[in-house]
Amino acid sequence: MNVNLLDLKPQHAALEPELQEAFLRVLRSGTFILGPEVDRFERALAEFTGAKHALGVNSGTDAILVALMALGIGPGDEVLCPSFTFFATAGCVARVGAKPVFVDSCPVCFNLDVRDAARRITPKTKAIIPVHLFGQMADMGGIFDLARLHQLRVIEDAAQAMGATFFGNQAGTAGDFGTFSFFPTKNLGALGDAGALVTSDTALYEKARILRMHGMDPKYYHQVVGGNFRLDALQAAMLSVKLPHFNEYTDARRRNAALYTERLSQLAGIEIANREGCCRSGPAPVSESARVVLPIAVEWPKNGHIWNQYTLRVIGAGRRDALRAHLASRGVGSEIYYPLPLHEQACFAHLGYRPEDFPWAHRLAGEVISLPIYPEIPAEQIEQVCAVIAEFLS
Ligand SMILES: Cc1ncc(COP(=O)(O)O)c(C=O)c1O
Repeated sequence: MNVNLLDLKPQHAALEPELQEAFLRVLRSGTFILGPEVDRFERALAEFTGAKHALGVNSGTDAILVALMALGIGPGDEVLCPSFTFFATAGCVARVGAKPVFVDSCPVCFNLDVRDAARRITPKTKAIIPVHLFGQMADMGGIFDLARLHQLRVIEDAAQAMGATFFGNQAGTAGDFGTFSFFPTKNLGALGDAGALVTSDTALYEKARILRMHGMDPKYYHQVVGGNFRLDALQAAMLSVKLPHFNEYTDARRRNAALYTERLSQLAGIEIANREGCCRSGPAPVSESARVVLPIAVEWPKNGHIWNQYTLRVIGAGRRDALRAHLASRGVGSEIYYPLPLHEQACFAHLGYRPEDFPWAHRLAGEVISLPIYPEIPAEQIEQVCAVIAEFLS
């Protein structure tokens, strides 16, 4: 039987009557842009995250863009962000005219390495964007130490980490802004593009709110140059149906991750990532004999990894691609998040980085592979994926 990387149909089938009702409510209301549906979702999101304000926008990318604009970041400024992440993080920095300054990643938690970030600070550094990759939060303690020391603004790119926690704080709520994506593959997925910002700073919220609608305040009087970053009422209504189920989805993802780890860790040549090697604690990621490394929830106190992805490291030249081909030959879907780090992308060639400037970002791009982990995947399919990996290693 084929195992899909992601199958959204079971989640939506279970909610179909509620989704239809919400759709009809919006259709009959005639209000499709912002309005009460968006207000309602924003209130629910603020309550869920614990942030004072939430602002619905039309994608996770626009959420980052609006956050940078609201913080007044632009030409002449430098912004620290990981190289090993989705493009949008650095793309938005470049779009406001600032320079993305890349930071290497930690091979254990896959997040920005705070020690490397510290080395790359200059008098032009204005902000840092930690990305909580794959559903696990970056070392926010280290990031805030750095931000305080150098007066940096902090934007948490929590596109993949809604609901994740660090010291009990929800992803997105500790920085000046937290940004979320509701792209359908995310833990809270819309039925199209959608995103949001959260902040507990009312002045910043007001700036972002005005920027979302062309910088107008009042209508047709433009105080600043903004854009059309609005969230559709229809997407907000769909998200309001799904949000109450979010914790069930997360629990299911945690169960799925635990099952993978339990089964795969029994295979010869597979090791669990060594938490001692995480971020600032020093090297020693895995032993010499490890062929595959399993991800962990690093023991931040009360770490709430929400497992947007279950990502293996496959050690050895060409081995990751060989595993991916083997999985595909057995009908198992997988994905490479991400095959080329941002410092090696053609669009950033003018920044003059060399591949070896970020050794872990470069190496991880050749080693990582993400397995199917969506909430509704049947346990038998996870067993099947593990059996295919066992076959590959035998
Ligand atoms: C880390 C990260 N940042 C930003 C984004 C952008 O979100 P969107 O696709 O909603 O624009 C994504 C989505 O893939 C992401 O994974």
